[in-house]
This record gives sequence, C-alpha cells and structure tokens, in this order.
Amino acid sequence: MASLWFMLVLCLTTWVSVSTTPDKTIFDPLGDHGGDKIIFKPYENHGAPKSSHDSPKGHHDAPKGSHDSPKGNHGAPNAPHVAPKRGGSTPKGPRVSPKQKQARPFFVFGDSLVDNGNNNFLITGARADMPPYGIDSPDHSPTGRFSNGLNIPDVISEYIGSEPTLPYLNPQLTGQKLLIGANFASAGVGILNDTGFQFLNVLRMPLQLEYFKEYQQRLSLAIGDEKAKQLVNRALVLISLGGNDFINNYYLFPGSARSQLTSLSDYVTYLIVEYRKILEKLYELGARRVIVMGLGPLGCAPGERMQHSKTGDCATDLQAASALFEPQLTQMVQDLNAKYHADVFVAANTKLMNYDMISDPKAFGFKTSTTACCGQGPFNGLPGLCTVTSNLCPNRDEYVFWDAFHPTERACRIIGQQIMNGTHEYMKPVNLSVIMAVDSKM
Ligand SMILES: *[C@@H]1O[C@H](CO)[C@@H](O)[C@H](O)[C@H]1NC(C)=O
Ligand SMILES: *[C@@H]1O[C@H](CO)[C@@H](O)[C@H](O)[C@H]1NC(C)=O
Ligand SMILES: *[C@@H]1O[C@H](CO)[C@@H](O)[C@H](O)[C@H]1NC(C)=O
Repeated sequence: MASLWFMLVLCLTTWVSVSTTPDKTIFDPLGDHGGDKIIFKPYENHGAPKSSHDSPKGHHDAPKGSHDSPKGNHGAPNAPHVAPKRGGSTPKGPRVSPKQKQARPFFVFGDSLVDNGNNNFLITGARADMPPYGIDSPDHSPTGRFSNGLNIPDVISEYIGSEPTLPYLNPQLTGQKLLIGANFASAGVGILNDTGFQFLNVLRMPLQLEYFKEYQQRLSLAIGDEKAKQLVNRALVLISLGGNDFINNYYLFPGSARSQLTSLSDYVTYLIVEYRKILEKLYELGARRVIVMGLGPLGCAPGERMQHSKTGDCATDLQAASALFEPQLTQMVQDLNAKYHADVFVAANTKLMNYDMISDPKAFGFKTSTTACCGQGPFNGLPGLCTVTSNLCPNRDEYVFWDAFHPTERACRIIGQQIMNGTHEYMKPVNLSVIMAVDSKM
C-alpha cells in the first residue's frame, strides 16, 4: 500500500464552481480610484522588513554543496554560508553585473504542479525523474517536472521573456542565474506541515521560505543589499498549494485522522488561515506581485475518479472540497490586499481554468479529460504509477491529464493563457498581462 501513496504527488486544480459573482472592484490602471487605496502600485516597500539578512543559516540539510560550481567564470560561488556584506553597493568578491534590461525575476513556491526538479536532489518517493516523464522535453528525458514537457511556471517564464528558473537545489544556480530567480517548489508538500509526511524528505513550506531568505543573502552578496532588495520587490511570484492537503492528508485513506477530527468545512477554513500566514510571510520577505493558485478540480483527476468515485464521474467529496476552498481563497486574497493597501496578491481560479477543459475537452482540441495519458488501471488513474511499463498514449496533446494527477504540457499552456489573459472571473483582481503593463511603467 505504501507504494500507492508514493504516487499521489499532486497538484490538482479543480475548477468546479460555476460563476462566482464577480466583485465590483474592477482594476483601474489609470488610478482613478479616489481615496487612499493604492491599487496596483508596484514594488511598494512599505512594511518590508529590513532584516532578512541576519546571520545566514549554515548548511541546511539539503544536498547543495555537493558540487563545484560548473560556472566558474561567473565568479559567484555558491556562497550562501558567508556573512553577507551589509550596505555596500559595490560588493567585493562575487561579481555579477545586473544587466541593464533584465527580464523580470521570477520565484516559484509550492507543490508538484510547479516543482521543476528540486525533489531530484532529495530522498523522497515524490520524484518525476524517470521516463516517460519529460518525454516531450527538448531532449526527451525527465527533468523533475510532473509533466510530459513544460509545466505552468515554464509557460509563465516564456511570457515574461525569461528562461525557466532553476530549482533552488540545483548546484548551477549561481552567478548570473541568480538574477533570473529561483524555484523553491517541492512535490508532495501542502499548506500544512504534516501533509505529505509519507514523502519523507521534501521541502515543506517553512523550509521553502527559509531557502528564499538564504537565496536573498546569496543575492546580496553578489549584487549588494539594495539591488537585491529591489530585485525581489520587482519579481513575479507564483505559489501553488492546497491539493495535497486533501489528496495526501484529509482524503489520504478513509477515516484518516484529519477527517475523523475535523469536518470538511472546518478543515477548509483552517487551511485558508494557514495559507494566509504563508502569503504574509512571502510579503515580509519582499514579494510584491504574487499569483496564488488554488485547488484544481481535485475530484476530476484520473487518480480520484479511480479511487473515490463509484461511477467514474468526478469524485463528489473532493469536488466539495474544491468548491468550498476557492471562494474562501479569493476572499482571503482580497483581505490581504486590503491590509497591505495594494494588489500584491492575485487569486487564480485554477478550479475554473481546469474545469473548462475537463467539462468540454473537445472545445480545446483534446480527445479526453477523464483518462490520463500515462498510467494503468481505470482511467490510467492508479495513483503514482507513471513508469516505463505504464500505458502511454502516443499523442500527449490529446490529453488533459498526463498522469493520474498532473496536466499535460498542452493543458498547462491553456492554464497559462488564462493566467495571462483571463477575465476577472479567472484572475482577481487582474490578469498577468495587466500586471505586466502596469508594472512596466514604473
Ligand atoms: C509549520 O512549521 C512551522 C515551523 O516549523 C511553524 O512555524 C508553523 O506554525 C507550522 N504550521 C502549522 C500549521 O502547524
Ligand atoms: C493575450 O492577449 C493578447 C492580446 O489579445 C495576445 O496578443 C496574446 O497572444 C495573448 N497571450 C496569451 C498567452 O494568450
Ligand atoms: C486580461 O487580459 C486581456 C487581454 O490582455 C484584457 O483584454 C482583459 O481586459 C484583461 N482582463 C482583466 C479582468 O483584467
């Protein structure tokens, strides 16, 4: 049984809820809003803590270090363990010249929907480092992404005109590469620390945030405190959490401890409270534009159709979870923006984005949304098992789901398009194209 749980790495996005009433605060890029509410004022530093640089942590247990940096000529050694210089705008040592017109930096946090390889460096079952994962990547080999090719962060990197960020644990993340940003995500994690306990050594949220701090210390060392702070403030941030708190916690097995102790609605409320703390922490660490992904249509993932549905329809218990979660997440994001007097956080209605494709796959040119491309058992949904011996569809572009829980590259691109250009129903308060237009003026 244990191996079954291995597979549930997930990231689901559920999109069930039909239209939530659009709220009236339509974004106004011209700033006609009267009053004191600052809408979309980019990179406000108010409230940003000055002190993300108190003594750098020593080695975390992560396997960084096991490499001599292959990029010797950039001169920025992987040097997180040296006290950063304070205040000097002309740091000695590592020389990294910020280019004049640098693409916007990008930071990624969360679970397997957005992990691009951190878990390859960890001892865990939650890894996508075996074929046929990555079969449609440029060299047709696994990268650590839970996809046949690219994933959602890659698509967003393309939009902002950047190369994909490296996984934070990748030893090549040094020198100029630091300026691109970093991906801290780790398959199997959730909002809660006990989610995904079966995956052993994954980067749970407190550690992802700790690494973000450590990253900033390294960056300060390379380009100076002030520039480092600006770079972080000006970055785009993406976070994906929540799916595993259901799939790999509340609904992990019938009668799980959580489901015995807590009603679904109380559990959702608790998750939102904890998600909020994580977002507040990101703000404290300097994040100023954060796209917040909620749940996918959890019950519609092939893995859940197989395990939790008698009929093969979307599993009702997991759909109920997604339906409760989405509006509360949106509300929480709005509350946070009110607290900070700026539209720092943007709620991406991943439930709806995914559900569009799942409910009418043909409209998007897919052949099926119920059966995964890679896997076995009903719907190819046996959790966790996309391996060399699995069924594998010949044309990944015809499938919404790559494995029991994760979308194909093509589905990721469609989600990316909604993040970029979606209406208010999909992206609240505004979509990424508006964010980019506004921020480019500053
Ligand atoms: C998770 O762990 C962190 C640090 O270990 C702690 O600060 C936080 O309160 C924990 N979260 C929950 C929900 O217990
Ligand atoms: C977004 O919309 C613009 C203008 O309609 C279009 O040029 C662009 O290709 C779209 N981008 C995506 C990713 O859909
Ligand atoms: C999102 O993007 C599109 C195209 O870029 C734009 O026309 C639309 O108004 C935007 N939607 C919202 C709600 O900002």
